[in-house]
Amino acid sequence: MARILTGIQSSGKPHLGNILGAIEPSVELSKNSGNESLFFIADLHSLINIKDSKLRHENTLSVAAAWISMGFDYKNNFFYRQSKITEVCELTWYLNCFTPFPMLSNSHSFKDKSENLSSVNSGLFTYPVLMASDILLYDADIVPVGKDQKQHLEITRDIAKSFNHQYGETFVIPECKLDDKVMTIPGIDGRKMSKTYNNTIDIFSEEKILKKQIMSIVTDSKGIDDKKNPEECNIFNIYALLAKDDQIIKMRKKYKSGGFGYGDAKKELQNLILEKFRKPREKYFDLIKNYDHLNSVLEIGEKKAKIIAQEVLERVRIKLGY
Ligand code: TRP
Repeated sequence: MARILTGIQSSGKPHLGNILGAIEPSVELSKNSGNESLFFIADLHSLINIKDSKLRHENTLSVAAAWISMGFDYKNNFFYRQSKITEVCELTWYLNCFTPFPMLSNSHSFKDKSENLSSVNSGLFTYPVLMASDILLYDADIVPVGKDQKQHLEITRDIAKSFNHQYGETFVIPECKLDDKVMTIPGIDGRKMSKTYNNTIDIFSEEKILKKQIMSIVTDSKGIDDKKNPEECNIFNIYALLAKDDQIIKMRKKYKSGGFGYGDAKKELQNLILEKFRKPREKYFDLIKNYDHLNSVLEIGEKKAKIIAQEVLERVRIKLGY
């Protein structure tokens, strides 16, 4: 049996890019009965950027509702908030003391922001160590992540190996499972879909907002009658990620034959999205109305996760002589 673990930042309502890039593939992986999945909401990591407590609380529950809506079987797996398993903070301290300084100063997450050091907090600097603790605390075998997290996984493996080397077998060395899709889901302006670029399609927004976002997908200025190249069009590229093969073939034909405007293509994309996500959207709106229920779902997961965490942490404490 493989133990799959992944963390989900609680940086707001998950958008189409998060859903196709992270949620769907991980939920699929968790359906394999040979696997045991631990999916958690990285609400400690979110403190690096988000200081508004109400916002973090809302984001956390919104992420939880999205995962459940997309079919994660939280009852037969582990679903929890990172912050509730406080063991992770103790392990982070231990691992900090095994992490060479240059390993962190060379990490992309830090380097990208190090131009303006006065705006960087130490949390951002040690971010990869907390992430290593997230993984090592639960003896995870496989960690599905996007390309942007690959380096963090390498750091985790290095820290674990160096600890094991000094103290004997203690940590499971996790494997990284890369999902290439994560980087390639285009946003409404054609760049990678990301909250930072404000180019997302928010599947779990009200229909009016969702439709408006789709309507604002950027295109060239070809008129209705012009023949169009589907491969160069953001609308088509997003459509192709969601549609069935026969729908894609039909859509491609319409583009190439002319008499089919971008407005028409956007309408078709709207319909496809609303149909494809009809059930998850209903489920989401239902769940998000009831914070108490979401909290109790997470609390059950947290009780189960804590048992693993305590066992692994005790193993580490003994090795360290505490
Ligand atoms: N850093 C990850 C991200 O931004 C989230 C994360 C935190 C994570 N801890 C993790 C992912 C542990 C995998 C495993 O997407």
